[in-house]
Amino acid sequence: MKKILLGITGSIAAYKSADIASKLVKLGYDVHVIMTESATEFVAPLTFETLTRNRVYVDMFREEDHRQVRHISQSTESDLILVAPASYNIIGKTATGVADDFLSSVLAAAPAGKVIFAPAMNVNMYHNPILQENINKLTKLGYRFIEPEEGMLACGVLGKGCLRNVPSIIETVEGFFHDKLLQGKKVLITAGATREYIDPIRFISNSSSGLMGVSLAKACRDFGADVTLILANSHLNIEGVNLIRVQTVAEMYQAAVDHFPTTDLMFAAAAVSDFKPVTYSESKIKKSDTGLVVELERNTDILLELGKMKQNQLLIGFAAESENLIPNAVGKLNKKNLDLIIANDLSNFATDDGKVWLVTSETAVELERKPKLQLAYDIVKMILNMTNNLSGAK
Ligand SMILES: Cc1cc2nc3c(=O)[nH]c(=O)nc-3n(C[C@H](O)[C@H](O)[C@H](O)COP(=O)(O)O)c2cc1C
Repeated sequence: MKKILLGITGSIAAYKSADIASKLVKLGYDVHVIMTESATEFVAPLTFETLTRNRVYVDMFREEDHRQVRHISQSTESDLILVAPASYNIIGKTATGVADDFLSSVLAAAPAGKVIFAPAMNVNMYHNPILQENINKLTKLGYRFIEPEEGMLACGVLGKGCLRNVPSIIETVEGFFHDKLLQGKKVLITAGATREYIDPIRFISNSSSGLMGVSLAKACRDFGADVTLILANSHLNIEGVNLIRVQTVAEMYQAAVDHFPTTDLMFAAAAVSDFKPVTYSESKIKKSDTGLVVELERNTDILLELGKMKQNQLLIGFAAESENLIPNAVGKLNKKNLDLIIANDLSNFATDDGKVWLVTSETAVELERKPKLQLAYDIVKMILNMTNNLSGAK
């Protein structure tokens, strides 16, 4: 059972730590809580003792049994230290080497790679250059941060500083524990739906949400890869990857060509417009009584071009088909010089879950329907197993 130390500091968001603790316990983690004195002004230790069924620590000098040096043992025995909410103060203390209470002493004794801070504070505190410098310093040392959200802050101001929503915090914790199967590898992913503009506001696109590609980017990130995600027209967000937002096929193509030579593994998950309008109107096309014919021409086939450039990269495409899914996927695999193709039917578009087949020229492995993030973890693991047998693949 993985042991998580949950550090809670003096923020109005401390009540949300109860939800975090409760969810982590339900997921099977052994959760231990350390609260700062200030945190106990906001929520009672009793809440966390009840939720975690473990003793809550606040004052290191009021410890009855000093045979164990608790601030050291708490650091070494934990698999992860999550500080949520993390105050301006605790970030500053960690960055400058102050250890004047239980939590800051535990943090001082812990390796940076074990610690995640989820800051929560007033917008001016968050944007204070001193805090930003501290965050930069700690990030460079290997500490991780879960960026706060924009929202209505407890002080009544709208701005960035709200503790990140609990599901995202839990997702980050779960990601922390994944095996680092892709450590040292560079992964490039395209996702989302490209747009081809007819005039300044009208475009040809499709209903892809980008969720599958973003989920793959999260999975690869959690498996330790250095991930670049080229994301077209999606409202989705992701942290811990190099995110490049694009709109058109031309922009996606340029970004892909720039990054592909140094890539180890590429997933082309974007739903790319096969056609683009022959002409683009600089001004909005006026309504007319006679109708409008838009002439289309073939667009750049990004995957075909990358297939031609391919050297040692493992190149994986997606096939979305209405019929003859596997034969059509194999056709695309061969035509585009891919190592593997992920076949899915159109029912996967714009949904939260998906079912896919991993297709090579020799085999088609079915993966059962799951939420896309869970599916993405399965896809990456299965591909790493299968690619040992793929010719030309790393
Ligand atoms: C009502 C109230 C709300 C506060 N909310 C925050 C907050 O969200 N984030 C923060 O960094 N400090 C906040 N503070 C200030 C901290 O509690 C204060 O800096 C304290 O020294 C932090 O101590 P700690 O880091 O040991 O918990 C708040 C203070 C009060 C009185």
